[in-house]
Amino acid sequence: MKNLFKLSELSIEEIHSILDEAEGFANGKTWDGVKGKKIANLFFEPSTRTHYSFIVAEQNLGIVDTNFNTEASSVKKGETLYDTLKTFEMIGFDGLVVRHPANNYFKQLDGINIPIMSGGDGTGNHPTQSLLDLLTIKQEFGSFEGLKIAIVGDIRHSRVAHTNIEVMKRLGMNVFVSGPKEFDDRSADYLEFEEVIKEMDIIMLLRVQYERHGYNMTLSKEEYHAEYGITMERVNQMKDEAIIMHPAPYNRGTEIADEVVECSKSRIMKQMANGVYTRMAVIKRAFSE
Ligand code: CP
Repeated sequence: MKNLFKLSELSIEEIHSILDEAEGFANGKTWDGVKGKKIANLFFEPSTRTHYSFIVAEQNLGIVDTNFNTEASSVKKGETLYDTLKTFEMIGFDGLVVRHPANNYFKQLDGINIPIMSGGDGTGNHPTQSLLDLLTIKQEFGSFEGLKIAIVGDIRHSRVAHTNIEVMKRLGMNVFVSGPKEFDDRSADYLEFEEVIKEMDIIMLLRVQYERHGYNMTLSKEEYHAEYGITMERVNQMKDEAIIMHPAPYNRGTEIADEVVECSKSRIMKQMANGVYTRMAVIKRAFSE
């Protein structure tokens, strides 16, 4: 049984091993080691990509999947997270996928004896998103060492940024942040946006995450787009081989222009598709010795 809460707890070898498995699934490999097992998906925060790509990953592996409805559960009567998850263990589930708004929610889960795969905790970690980002980069460039990436936007409140910055540095990538200075939490060197456009191999955009922190940025949507948005004019200034990524959901017209979302340099759709293969690999790891 192997939980997945933080990529920082995994060695580089383990990360490469998950990416190799994910690549295998992307190439049509199958695995019946978890066929018939029961997994419950408990999302205490909204999700489209993570939740539903976990469901497809589970179904691809022959897992019987169940989706938890917090609104119709005893969470509404004050049940603790531990008690809810322990109930799922005791009634016969074999594994759990959990997204929760509290940073480090998993620290209260000692005593749960089935594997838990995190779909994100607060502003802390988003391990499966980072793994699918890495898979997308590996498919594009073949390796990580020496690649230059800038993560642009609401770094301070982004679990995607925090997870990626840590693991990408360990993989030998040159990691920068950019965007409004009010979002710079000094987790990587800051680069002016003009340099980002012209010099990066990868530009990873983030949206402003109003719903998670209730923060009002000082720039209007129009000002953000003018100063830090990726427009086709800016796409045309990027290096020939450079790509654009975004964990999504994206705010069209703020950090990304409508026509850039599916342009030739965008790998955003590829990231979504890779979410399924990556989560299949994460499930395989969870149930492997
Ligand atoms: N990228 C991501 O986590 O998207 P969802 O919130 O839709 O799962």
